[in-house]
Amino acid sequence: MKSAKSYILENKQRFIDELIELLKIPSISANSNYKADVIHTADAVKNSLQKAGCDEVEICETPGFPIVYGEKIIDPNLPTILVYGHYDVQPPDPINLWDSPPFEPVIKTTALHPEGAIFARGSCDDKGQMYMHVKALEYMTSTGQLPCNVKFMIEGEEEIGSESLGWFVERNQKKLENDIILISDTGMIAPDVPSITTGLRGLSYVEVEVTGPNRDLHSGLYGGAVANPINILTQMIASLHDENNHITIPGFYDQVEELSKLERAKMGEAPFSLEAYKKALDINDVHGEKGYTTNERNSIRPTLDVNGIWGGYIGEGAKTVIASKAYAKISMRLVPNQNWEAITELFKNHFERIAPKSVSVKVNPHHGGQAYVTPIDCLGYKAAEKAYEATFGKTPIPQRSGGSIPIVALFEKELKSKTILMGFGLDSDAIHSPNEHFGIWNYLKGIETIPQFYHYFTMMSK
Ligand code: BES
Ligand code: MN
Ligand code: MN
Repeated sequence: MKSAKSYILENKQRFIDELIELLKIPSISANSNYKADVIHTADAVKNSLQKAGCDEVEICETPGFPIVYGEKIIDPNLPTILVYGHYDVQPPDPINLWDSPPFEPVIKTTALHPEGAIFARGSCDDKGQMYMHVKALEYMTSTGQLPCNVKFMIEGEEEIGSESLGWFVERNQKKLENDIILISDTGMIAPDVPSITTGLRGLSYVEVEVTGPNRDLHSGLYGGAVANPINILTQMIASLHDENNHITIPGFYDQVEELSKLERAKMGEAPFSLEAYKKALDINDVHGEKGYTTNERNSIRPTLDVNGIWGGYIGEGAKTVIASKAYAKISMRLVPNQNWEAITELFKNHFERIAPKSVSVKVNPHHGGQAYVTPIDCLGYKAAEKAYEATFGKTPIPQRSGGSIPIVALFEKELKSKTILMGFGLDSDAIHSPNEHFGIWNYLKGIETIPQFYHYFTMMSK
């Protein structure tokens, strides 16, 4: 029987070339100018699933971008793994900060990727990680080693809130029936420190608009006598944290799940160097909620961050003006038990309440989602642990992540199954940033580890 290692070695160049072709298509879901490219990517994914051995593949139309579905059912009595991933990518902006064009993939080595990494938007998030599953399937089908049933569901709206996927899942519970959901869309600690993501934060995303006078005004004639919406907005935003960096919205922490001392102590055992962290980001110090470590702040604690702020004159030179309006986009990362819709409501009420009479405020909620935690005593987690032991020679560390994949909580609600997050990216892979990349070693290690999960999950399900 051919091992994954030797199959990967023989097909390495082709695996890389195929991924590079996929990365050339700019499937930017947020920008309507790229609509045709997003749809074209769905077709490419469909074809790749067919070639990799799926018996049924289809493009499922939705109110938004299509969902690519594929399956190979070998025996209804065997367990079924549902693989989820996304083929859409974040906008590449700011484009001038890329060392090479975002949709012209190149391979370069870095300190953390001595074997080379593919630089392109979507290389790690999530085309590269999604494609590991396609190649793992190819290996299993072409060598007669697929041990169970598999379904693929690859969507094109993850980066804009997965609205159509929610719609699709609610209508296709039977079709999507499974025993475990498997996703590679997260990271791991380091190549020699394998980890499995056991938590995702929830999200509430809002946009705020502060309006002062009915038109832009001369800042000399009117300055000092009327509210400047930009001044007011920044004051309001500043007041959302207190001196300990606690969020000041009344009720915000009411439902927050507090971890036990033991759980926090266990979390603290994961290898982490604050010095290396600061150095990698070129910062003199970290910043965050008092009483919590850096790793706690970015995983088990909720946050509030301005993602963008604008208004007034930002062109060349100076223009003396008091703008009529100021805007900001604000995200709140949430933890288990915080209901994202309730938090959005709390934010809205609070923000409207703290606005002075001299301005009017509008809060427009965007998308959101619930946090998720994978229990480490479930069958899927144990199978994943065995899979990593087989390919890394080490027991993976369970680690909660700060990122969000809001659809995962909905999967549990609608499909009643647990999700296993086997991510192979590194935090330094610059997802959502300029120069995103994905290590070739990580890519191939993922392809090697995934079949082990299939093997152990099937074996342990008996
Ligand atoms: N793959 C990421 C989420 C992620 C990355 C989780 C690394 C854990 C570790 C996903 O594509 C993403 O970017 N999600 C968005 C949320 C979405 C609603 C736009 C996020 O976390 O900002
Ligand atoms: Mn992703
Ligand atoms: Mn993303």
